[in-house]
Amino acid sequence: MTPMHLFSPLALRGVTLPNRIVISPMQQYRAEPDGLPNAFHRQHYGRLSLGGPGLLFTEALAVTAAGRVTNSDLGIWSNDHLPGLADSGRIVREGDGSALISAEDVRARHLTLEHA
Ligand SMILES: Cc1cc2nc3c(=O)[nH]c(=O)nc-3n(C[C@H](O)[C@H](O)[C@H](O)COP(=O)(O)O)c2cc1C
Repeated sequence: MTPMHLFSPLALRGVTLPNRIVISPMQQYRAEPDGLPNAFHRQHYGRLSLGGPGLLFTEALAVTAAGRVTNSDLGIWSNDHLPGLADSGRIVREGDGSALISAEDVRARHLTLEHA
C-alpha cells in the first residue's frame, strides 16, 4: 500500500511545513479602494488557518494600482499595505502553517496579448 504523506511534514528550503495541505490563492474582492486589507481579511485568513493547512497562499496581491483586476483587489504596491498583510500572516503562523503571497499585475497580460 502507498504510504500516506498528507499529514507528514515537508521541508522546503528553510521552511518545514507541518503537513502537505495547501490552500490555493482565492481572490475575495473585499479590499478597500486603495488596496488596503480590513477586518474581513483578518477573519477570512484566521478562519482558513483554523483548519491547520501547512501552506496558505494569499489571494492575488496587486503589485501596482493599475495592475488590479478590480478596484477591490488587495494591494502590495506600497509600504502602507504591509502592516495589515503582516497581521493576516501572523494569524496563519499562530496556526503553525506558513503563508505565501501570490502577486498579480494584469498589465503584463495585456502587454502579452497586444504583442502576440
Ligand atoms: C473564487 C476563486 C478565486 C480565485 N482567486 C485566485 C487568485 O486570486 N489567484 C490565483 O492565482 N488563482 C485564483 N483562483 C484559482 C485557484 O487558486 C485554483 O487554481 C483553481 O481554483 C483550481 O484549483 P484546483 O486545481 O485545485 O481545482 C481562484 C479560484 C476561485 C474559485
